[in-house]
Amino acid sequence: LQGDEVLVVSNREPYIHEKTPNGIVVKRPASGLVTAVEPVMRACSGTWVAHGSGSADRDVVDANDVVMVPPDHPTYSLKRVWLTREEEEGYYYGFANEGLWPLCHIAHVRPVFRVSDWEYYKEVNRRFADKVIASARTDDPVILVQDYHFALLPQLIREKLPRATIITFWHIPWPNPESFGICPWRAELLRGMLGSSILGFHTRFHCKNFIDTVDRYLETRIEHEHSTITLDGRETLIKNYPISIHWPDEQEESAWPETEECRRMLRRNFNLSDSHLVAIGVDRFDYTKGILERANAVERMLEKHPDMIGKFSLIQIAAPSRSSLDEYRYFQERLSRRVEEINRRFGRDNYQPFILLAEHQGSEILTRYYRGADACIVTSLHDGMNLVSKEFIACRNDMQGVLILSQFAGAAGELPEALIVNPYHVEETADALYQALTMPEAEQRERIRSLRATVRERNVYRWAGFMLQDAAHARRRERIEA
Ligand code: G6P
Repeated sequence: LQGDEVLVVSNREPYIHEKTPNGIVVKRPASGLVTAVEPVMRACSGTWVAHGSGSADRDVVDANDVVMVPPDHPTYSLKRVWLTREEEEGYYYGFANEGLWPLCHIAHVRPVFRVSDWEYYKEVNRRFADKVIASARTDDPVILVQDYHFALLPQLIREKLPRATIITFWHIPWPNPESFGICPWRAELLRGMLGSSILGFHTRFHCKNFIDTVDRYLETRIEHEHSTITLDGRETLIKNYPISIHWPDEQEESAWPETEECRRMLRRNFNLSDSHLVAIGVDRFDYTKGILERANAVERMLEKHPDMIGKFSLIQIAAPSRSSLDEYRYFQERLSRRVEEINRRFGRDNYQPFILLAEHQGSEILTRYYRGADACIVTSLHDGMNLVSKEFIACRNDMQGVLILSQFAGAAGELPEALIVNPYHVEETADALYQALTMPEAEQRERIRSLRATVRERNVYRWAGFMLQDAAHARRRERIEA
């Protein structure tokens, strides 16, 4: 694709400028999508179109709404789209996060579909399409559309830029046809997505669910052999591209403190003794992440192994997210109550078995926490991929530490050497937690070595590389056929 123009479009921006009493600060959002796509953009420059959501976002852009990023070493353009409060309410909070998010995660939270949200969703998709089209300098750019906020965008762009190569990546799961079928606008969403040249999901299972959904609700030609769908004479390739992380190089690793120092720092930060056993959880504060189930497992583990009382704590970082939505607030309240119960039952003066921090942490601190913990626990009820599991693995160049991973995270398929659990099975998760905390060092080494080999090879550049390679093939074919 050398010499081709690359545009990325996502709802969430990679850098958020905020006003503070000390001036403007730049924040990185807690988003798996941003974690994955940002290093790729750094490497290939181009333009990233996203919602300008920070309080100082307007103060730092030029007349074209563009700011060059990353702030310390600018390599690509971030072009911001401004949304009104009503648009943000209807398109982002409403249709995307009260409708499509629970719909695709089958997390037993009923999706809400309001006609007014749908109108805003369509309107905002049109606005982003206009911005992308206006940003394109050529008539055949490569456009990378990100996630469930933009199901209609591929088709809208295709109408104006028929020669564009549009790669859409769906970062969340795709449910089965019965589940997806409850969405009143299922056919419009599917048609919108099929404006893509390539449509990517994390796993083959999600691809299969998508193809079955199209088969059920649209008149198309499906070639199962090639995994393509043809609608109105246009072909879309449906393929799995497991997303990943940037694998740290030697120079980055050399800046990390030794694990011993990380262990001590983590424990001192929470007033724990140097020999205290610590598991770490890092998630957005979201009902799909299984944090309540994790709390139940901690409780059950302490019931079964009272010798662990006073010696073990789970440090759970839960970055508040979408908190203006009722379901998120209820969940945050419910979890806080549950954690209080557990801490009342097993806690002592200075001891809490479940340390809940409803806050966002930057990557530097997280690296230290991952390196200092005995185990990392991921219990998502349903997750497209889950990058926390891969980040933990990348941080453990000391070959120690145990990963407990939900079988319902896309990552489970790639990382079988983790302790794989069904988070709905409290007993099993509690046993895995105990097994992790008591695992001999040799076994830890064996497991983590194998996990590291996988993630090092299947890194985020491979994810992007495979998609761009398939895009290049598609372009060559189209040029020959034209
Ligand atoms: C998930 C979604 C991303 C989203 C992120 C954070 O990872 O797939 O698209 O950016 O959650 O959520 P937020 O709503 O804060 O952007």
